[in-house]
Amino acid sequence: MKKIITAFLLGFVPVLALASGGGVKLDKADIDLHDQDSLRRGAKLFVNYCLSCHSAAYMRYNRMGQDLGLTDAQVKENLMFAAEKVGETMTIAMPADDAKRWFGTKVPDLSVVARARGADWLYSYLRGFHLDSSRPWGVNNTVFKDVGMPHVLWELEGLKKPVYEVRKNHEGEEEKHIVGFETVQPGKLSSAEYDLAVRDLVNFMVYMGEPAKLVRYKIGVWVLLYLVILFVVAYALKKEYWKDVH
Ligand code: HEC
Repeated sequence: MKKIITAFLLGFVPVLALASGGGVKLDKADIDLHDQDSLRRGAKLFVNYCLSCHSAAYMRYNRMGQDLGLTDAQVKENLMFAAEKVGETMTIAMPADDAKRWFGTKVPDLSVVARARGADWLYSYLRGFHLDSSRPWGVNNTVFKDVGMPHVLWELEGLKKPVYEVRKNHEGEEEKHIVGFETVQPGKLSSAEYDLAVRDLVNFMVYMGEPAKLVRYKIGVWVLLYLVILFVVAYALKKEYWKDVH
């Protein structure tokens, strides 16, 4: 019995480790799927900065247009650089083998990454790139150690280097901890503006992970309205039936 319980508990260990994001504190993304302007800004950032390496093969351009309140023409003009027809999915031209050669790893499809990683993780990840001369792209990441992706948003954010503090762990060994960042080269956006831009981008990726969520919100409102009306009718009916009983 004990063995079974231990096995059962051990089964949870990797899940817990993943959920805690490797012990790194994540910042809250605080996204809002109802904010269509934010979703549109996020979509624009996504097609401009991410779609060159990552695909989003479960997302169709026209579906995105519909959900974000854009016409096909608007989608074509503003968001489509890698496809011909609005009915196409968000694929990329880079062959997987080349990607492997250039980046040393597969470049994952981002369609459902928000569901796998969570919004807070993505928000922290995209704000977590910092200079590290030991890495091939000159950057490392606070939540994804030794990441194979360059800091593609550096023009917007600028470049920052970590400020370390040496602390002793409980075994008395010294460990370096990142306690803050120092800007080395400012970007086009201030740090508050960059946070907002990343929030839009994460908002879009969460939408992309489950486009039907927006539809569900709308259906939800109708369902509630229906229940209210049904309640009124049922209540009137009940009164009618019971009127002579007392
Ligand atoms: C120059 C190519 C390139 C561009 C452009 C790029 N990425 Fe990446 N990205 C990568 C590579 C390579 C990896 C795999 C890193 C690894 O496994 O070490 C990756 C990994 C990721 C991951 C982690 C996926 C996971 O769960 O492991 C996320 C999230 C991500 N990228 C988001 C983005 C976003 C958002 C953008 C646009 C702002 C973007 N990437 C632009 C190359 C790129």
